[in-house]
Amino acid sequence: MSSRVFLNEVGLRDGLQAQPKHLTVAERCQLMDSLLACGVSTIEAGSFVSPKAVPQMAGTDEVLGYGLEKASASRFNVLVPNRKGYELAVAAGAREVNLVVSATDTMNQKNINMSTAQIMAVCEGVIESAKQEGVRVNAYVAVAFECPFEGRVDSGQVISLSQRLLAYGADRAVIADTIGAASPFQVSRLFREMCRGIQPDRLACHFHDTRAMGVANVYAAIEQGIRHFDSSIGGLGGCPFAPGASGNVATEDIALLCHQEGLDTGINFAAMVEAVELVKQLTGTAKGGRAYYWLSTHMERFTEKKGEVA
Ligand code: HMG
Ligand code: MG
Repeated sequence: MSSRVFLNEVGLRDGLQAQPKHLTVAERCQLMDSLLACGVSTIEAGSFVSPKAVPQMAGTDEVLGYGLEKASASRFNVLVPNRKGYELAVAAGAREVNLVVSATDTMNQKNINMSTAQIMAVCEGVIESAKQEGVRVNAYVAVAFECPFEGRVDSGQVISLSQRLLAYGADRAVIADTIGAASPFQVSRLFREMCRGIQPDRLACHFHDTRAMGVANVYAAIEQGIRHFDSSIGGLGGCPFAPGASGNVATEDIALLCHQEGLDTGINFAAMVEAVELVKQLTGTAKGGRAYYWLSTHMERFTEKKGEVA
């Protein structure tokens, strides 16, 4: 089993999309610089959604453009809810997009004003265009464990949606616990079942840490062979359309878990602690993940060498 773990940093999108304080484009670019220095594999730069629905994400084209001046397009992805979002994203230089299908009809209606059948049809068309244009696609299956409106979600529905999205041509299916309701045994069960028909490399996880099980859930998925995880600096996050969604599992918590388990994330710990400090200062609400305090008081344990624990 590979010892490399890939972190996709979602702080600039999931982290900021529900914040009461709307960060300026300049502040988001400052955060982008700090995240690039951390050595995360990829960064979700924002979302191309209606600014009426999510004003916090207005100006994502400028934030992405700023990132593209600093690093190659393969380091970035952006969320797109529909074809219009896809077209705006590609025009702004995106080469990797994130589509979102919720596992329940009610969540799809609340999030993007479409039924599950409608958004699946949109995804099929967008993925077809993306394949022709050489754009990578991550297909999210949201509320994969529990929906804030319809309750428990059947794993059969999650597996079936993931298989269909991969069959349309998505590069990876991202299993998302939108409101942080999953527990490690449920995560193990779901991925054991999924990995019978899908290569683990084509799956990723996006956990919210609402009930303090984010890190345990990441560990359960690692045990099932999953190596791609979303994480958010300082533990920021939440979906404006999913009541009860709190922060994503913190980048610093997954990074420390991986290093203690001998798994390489490529993270520079000193730069990561600086990024947590910046996101706390910029938002005024981020607290930092549970590993933040220990990390910030034990930096002497980290050598100069990138990401190495002494
Ligand atoms: P709608 O009102 O049904 O859309 O909203 P519409 O097609 O009727 O268009 C309405 C207006 O929006 C029009 O403008 C369109 O041009 C514009 P107007 O004529 O009124 O001036 N529009 C757009 N503008 C910019 N970008 C676009 C776009 N599309 C239409 N892409 C819509 C439907 C999807 C647009 C809206 O509901 C929306 O933007 N929703 C945002 C949803 C969102 O951002 N949710 C949070 C992200 S998902 C998430 O957090 C979960 C995740 O983290 C995983 C997890 O935790 O589970 C990924
Ligand atoms: Mg989320």
